[in-house]
Amino acid sequence: MAATLAPLEPLNPARIPRHVAMIMDGNGRWAKQQGKPRLFGHQAGTENLREIIKACVEFGVRYLTVYAFSTENWNRPDDEVKGLMRILADALERELPELHRQGVRLRHIGRLERLNPVLMEKIRQAMELTRDNDRLDVIIAWNYGGRDEIVAAIEKIVSQGYPVEQVNEKLVADSLFTAGIPDPDLVVRTSGEYRTSNFLLWQTAYSEWYFPPVYWPDFNRVEFHKGLQDYARRERRFGKTSEQLAG
Ligand code: IPE
Ligand code: IPE
Ligand code: MG
Repeated sequence: MAATLAPLEPLNPARIPRHVAMIMDGNGRWAKQQGKPRLFGHQAGTENLREIIKACVEFGVRYLTVYAFSTENWNRPDDEVKGLMRILADALERELPELHRQGVRLRHIGRLERLNPVLMEKIRQAMELTRDNDRLDVIIAWNYGGRDEIVAAIEKIVSQGYPVEQVNEKLVADSLFTAGIPDPDLVVRTSGEYRTSNFLLWQTAYSEWYFPPVYWPDFNRVEFHKGLQDYARRERRFGKTSEQLAG
């Protein structure tokens, strides 16, 4: 059996994506397959994120964005929404000192309003504490939707009174929640679903996608390594031809 597994190659530091974005999907199914409640899966998923953050530091990824709660996830049963909010609050409290020690800068994208004020304050404090760290930026997409982000950017541009001649791609990019963060090079979606679910619609225009066939709590360091290996073999053409890139 072991002979059929592709061995892990050492990763070429020149081919590591600077920014990896992850749609952490499949927590509910992971729990269900072992007869446990969905929140058990979300808890396991949160613990897995700790390992993935460590792996990012080890592999030399500079930005990690994680999709943890979408604008559409408010439509889930009340207990699940409340449970997810509590899991985030507890994880922030528990993990913050270690993340800070590792040189992680915590950031948030999405609308903070509509969150419970206590949770909102915890997120703000975590961002403030870690703002000067520069080893790895961990960007948590919480109450985030790609369409909502574009609406928020338009609101900002209009309210600042920009004349139409000044509206261009740079102004839009600079008005998004992700202003100043480079676009993701690689997007990973676990659990065998092949869709964006409203994640980083603008920023992923030229991202590479990777779909490992495992639920998020099982997406470990080895699975991540495989994804990076796959990414390293790709040619990103940005509209050009292979010959142009070689020349
Ligand atoms: C992802 O896992 C976490 C969130 C969306 C909050 P899911 O909860 O979507 O798990 P599945 O897709 O139902 O298995
Ligand atoms: C996307 O997963 C959102 C997060 C991982 C936070 P969903 O499970 O909510 O996406 P759909 O509903 O299956 O598209
Ligand atoms: Mg899901």
